[in-house]
Amino acid sequence: MTGIEELLLSRIRDVADYPEPGVMFKDITPLLADPAAFTALTDALAEVAASTGATKVVGLEARGFILGAPVAVRAGLGFIPVRKAGKLPGATLSQAYDLEYGSAEIEVHAEDLTGDDRVLVVDDVLATGGTAEASIQLIRRAGAQVAGLAVLMELGFLGGRARLEPALAGAPLEALLKI
Ligand code: PRP
Ligand code: MG
Repeated sequence: MTGIEELLLSRIRDVADYPEPGVMFKDITPLLADPAAFTALTDALAEVAASTGATKVVGLEARGFILGAPVAVRAGLGFIPVRKAGKLPGATLSQAYDLEYGSAEIEVHAEDLTGDDRVLVVDDVLATGGTAEASIQLIRRAGAQVAGLAVLMELGFLGGRARLEPALAGAPLEALLKI
């Protein structure tokens, strides 16, 4: 394990049986509260943005906002929020996706993405991949290209990487930690 991986992992707190019995929640708030760790995370994700040739960073509400916004600033790129439905005032594109129980919907301002954009999606966790898949579909429907997906951690046992293969269509999936 590299030094940065050790630093990041040491600042993620496992919370058993949250939000429901049998689930081990990965709490990133200790990492956010540690300026050295948060800076190292931001720098690492900004390097991914540069290496993928991204022109915009999309952050996924809510934890993807916390991680993605400083990455956009560090990389010198614009930040675009993908929000849960009903929060954006302008003309939106919407994408529904399935959850374990029920469904959810995310939206983006249609005017924020153009055919000239290459978009890096940033989020904290890749679990089943449903949220990331819906965001990639939104970006493509807006006419933009997907530069890649960058996450702090990938929960490998949930199979998100395999699920995302068709949507990513060769664009890279970078996970700083594989759990
Ligand atoms: C969590 C997490 C990822 C998503 C991963 O978001 O932050 O966005 O689930 O799960 P998936 O790969 O199975 O889609 P959630 O909406 O639960 O909470 P948040 O608003 O705190 O980000
Ligand atoms: Mg989230």
